[in-house]
Amino acid sequence: MQLSFKNLMKSYGSRRVLNDITIDLPDTRAMAVIGPSGGGKTTLLRTIAGLERPDCGQLSIDGELLQFDDASLLLHRRSIGTVFQAFNLFPHLTALENILLPLEQAHGYRHPEAMEAAESILKRFQLEGHADKKPAQLSGGQQQRIAIARAIAIKPRFLLFDEPTSALDPEMTSEVLDIIGELRDEGRDLLLVTHHMGFARTAADYCLFVADGRIVENGPAEQLFAEPKSKELRQFLGRVMRY
Ligand SMILES: Nc1ncnc2c1ncn2[C@@H]1O[C@H](COP(=O)(O)OP(=O)(O)OP(=O)(O)O)[C@@H](O)[C@H]1O
Ligand SMILES: [Mg+2]
Repeated sequence: MQLSFKNLMKSYGSRRVLNDITIDLPDTRAMAVIGPSGGGKTTLLRTIAGLERPDCGQLSIDGELLQFDDASLLLHRRSIGTVFQAFNLFPHLTALENILLPLEQAHGYRHPEAMEAAESILKRFQLEGHADKKPAQLSGGQQQRIAIARAIAIKPRFLLFDEPTSALDPEMTSEVLDIIGELRDEGRDLLLVTHHMGFARTAADYCLFVADGRIVENGPAEQLFAEPKSKELRQFLGRVMRY
């Protein structure tokens, strides 16, 4: 996935959340986004997902300029797999129905084809035994694995994760990070906002440090952690690595 931003701006009221981002990033496979709370990571990810419209500026993905009219954004959103921190499964639907819904409603699959795709993806994540359970009957880690399965079922061009483990205990966190590592190994393009610095450093090939609405630093993940250049990143790493 290759991202280029040009003068990208976004404000909420008088607060500037994305502050004139201009950068051509290299073509990457697994990209981690780190940075302090409130720095703009989620807003940046939601803009890439086509869920937020910037106030001005441009975003190109793989050389294609993203159009911000409703019809283009809808098509764009449907081509991407997104997994957010809070479990965003539909609570009244079973795990299987949660996976079927976007396939049938947004992607034009007929029921038998959707069933085949959903069953094979549940199997791939060893979740077959949970197909008929509703989210409330599943652990947080299982719910997140269903959410990832749902994101993958639509054959997305890339995957976006926004702190997918922040509501999980350590054991379930490892389960979910393992899956993300497997997806990377399968050759899927992904972008992950995370506060797991160890995972960002080892699992990502590239890393962005976002603070104050800007991409303050970017580079190969290992290098960014080993030799932070900016004062902001050095201070941030000092704070988060303390414990
Ligand atoms: N829908 C919204 N309406 C108003 N302000 C918002 C909205 N979404 C985000 N903000 C503000 O924009 C700023 C950036 O928020 P964002 O969620 O992008 O940060 P973040 O880096 O993801 O933070 P965190 O690490 O806490 O998730 C924050 O000050 C936040 O309060
Ligand atoms: Mg966020």
